Amino acid sequence: MDNRAIGIFDSGVGGLSSVKKMLSDHPEESILYFGDTGRAPYGSRTREEIVSMSLQDVHFLRTFDLKAILIACNTITVCSLKALREANPDIPIIGVVDSAAEAAARATKNRKVGVIATKATIDSDAYAQKIKEFAPDTEVFSAACPKFVPLIEAGKISPENEELAAAIREYCTELKEAGVDTLILGCTHYPLIAEAVGLFMGEGVQLIDSGAEPVKTVIRMLEEKEALAEKEKEGKEFYFCSGDVDAFGYVADLFLKKDISSKSMRINIENF
Ligand code: DGL
Repeated sequence: MDNRAIGIFDSGVGGLSSVKKMLSDHPEESILYFGDTGRAPYGSRTREEIVSMSLQDVHFLRTFDLKAILIACNTITVCSLKALREANPDIPIIGVVDSAAEAAARATKNRKVGVIATKATIDSDAYAQKIKEFAPDTEVFSAACPKFVPLIEAGKISPENEELAAAIREYCTELKEAGVDTLILGCTHYPLIAEAVGLFMGEGVQLIDSGAEPVKTVIRMLEEKEALAEKEKEGKEFYFCSGDVDAFGYVADLFLKKDISSKSMRINIENF
């Protein structure tokens, strides 16, 4: 039994898709969230920048006594998982790509899977490679979607938002025409626009949430280590961001459907 918090971090509000799953399925676990909203998006940056910024993010998280860290960001996972583990060998660090790739390989019936993600994640080819490991006969269709994260960070997540609808048409039309029956939301920000993406793709397409899937992996790992929190207690939540705390709270409120402003604080990530 271990009641210490799980650290969850992302370039911005995207990792809240992991938080949402954790709060609904494991409310006994305490969460300490960091969103680097002041420096998002990461997905169009160089690998070197992403590694260096994510090392700072974890350095900040490690000022707290945590039992594990979830990298709730695909871009950071594909660029920095190795570097973060090397720099922090004394704490389990879990990434997000494998769980979503496995879930998609299991879900597809027609063996056509789409992946939408940031430029850095698509360029890494990590999803296509992982999906083929689990299901070698699968065709993978990918699209980088650089306009999504800025829209989501700005709270433009409603299916009625015209700018968002235009970006979805731009990025998802080819995938729809290719006939994918499963679409990986391969950036943890995208579950915040799942409703709008789902409406465009149609009912027959199953969406895989890359923020929610790895929560199961974290819980399984903690269970093996006998480090789950006591079931009878309610976990605590702490939220930190590096940008405007009201803007962070606004998006969090829209997505989590709860007011976290009293639990949120701005930090200067450059100090870490
Ligand atoms: N949420 C992040 C991901 O899963 C990246 C967003 C960004 O580009 O900063 O890839």
